[in-house]
Amino acid sequence: MPAMPSSFAEARVDLGAISENTAALARRASPAAVMGVVKADGYGHGMIPAARALLAGGAEWLGTAFIEEALELRGAGVTCPVVAWILPPHAPLARAVAADIDLGVSTPALIDDIAGAARETGRRARVHLKADTGLNRGGLTPDQWPGTVAAAARAEAAGLIRVTGLFSHFACADEPGHPSIAAQISAFHEALEIADKAGLDPEVRHLANSAATLTLPETRFDLVRPGIASYGLNPIPGPDDTGLRPAMTLRSAVALVKRVPADSGVSYGHRYTTDRATGLALIPLGYGDGVPRNATNTGPVQVGGRRRTIAGTVCMDQFMVDLGDDTLGPDAEAVLFGPGDAGEPTAREWAEALGTIPYEIVTRISPRVPRVYDGAG
Ligand SMILES: Cc1ncc(COP(=O)(O)O)c(C=O)c1O
Repeated sequence: MPAMPSSFAEARVDLGAISENTAALARRASPAAVMGVVKADGYGHGMIPAARALLAGGAEWLGTAFIEEALELRGAGVTCPVVAWILPPHAPLARAVAADIDLGVSTPALIDDIAGAARETGRRARVHLKADTGLNRGGLTPDQWPGTVAAAARAEAAGLIRVTGLFSHFACADEPGHPSIAAQISAFHEALEIADKAGLDPEVRHLANSAATLTLPETRFDLVRPGIASYGLNPIPGPDDTGLRPAMTLRSAVALVKRVPADSGVSYGHRYTTDRATGLALIPLGYGDGVPRNATNTGPVQVGGRRRTIAGTVCMDQFMVDLGDDTLGPDAEAVLFGPGDAGEPTAREWAEALGTIPYEIVTRISPRVPRVYDGAG
């Protein structure tokens, strides 16, 4: 077992897996191009190394939620097109335009704001108009779409912006067959037609997230935006035949092992009681590291090569595992999740056990856990 770098625990990130997953998605989506999604610190994997691995795997675009994330990519020398799609009031539009960051537009007022940023910087702004086709989150409503398209066409004619993209986002693509999927596809086609009639000629039309990239070929258009799948996690619950390889492994050394008698209450609140004299292992990872507290008595973990379940309450820095009569070697480790090769749980299993999604399991691992990278990014 390689030494733990700076603490007991680490999140090991297999950059080769990110590249290979991306290459597999690119083959599937071809001739559509791939936008790698690196928001939220690359879904917890580390934004810059993840971005490099995505680009190495064939992604030609990158996507972030916020301009600040996109600026960080530029600061690290990333030169490909980068789209930031959440622009709250006072977002640094001029800095984004100066850094050649594509801006996702979800409100009509942003056309004027971005045109102003273009005047200020003396550069033409790159804009992606986002249609709300039924997610009812970000995006221009069907009422707002024609007017905003017309305003964008005028700003384009004035040389202030270039509409590089038209896009939308699914609500339920991870539930194959959900009736909203067909409705959103048809609403997106209508939005494209309105833009076409207004004279817009974008470089890319894009709709597909991971689930759609995997299951809905008709939604690939010119560009797909898989996020979670690039990190090796199929967002569609149930059996997984995608061949994607989970990139993150969360593991820790075992901090101590002790024997306790039968009937011992374990950890805060005594929510677990030993049913016999047994060995307990302390794993120094807790909710301060991003292990969900509701993994109490539920989270699967492999300790000393065997599958077990967290015993008792997950604390801020630690949790316990009941070993029974098993003995552990001095270098024994706990693996909370990984690719599953050696029988360890996966983030998908964690999500299922906790009633959440694998996105949350990997993204919430806190900065206190060092990321250690395998492979070139
Ligand atoms: C606009 C947009 N596109 C693409 C993605 C990637 O989604 P997923 O990780 O499900 O592939 C997200 C993530 O939430 C998003 O907000």
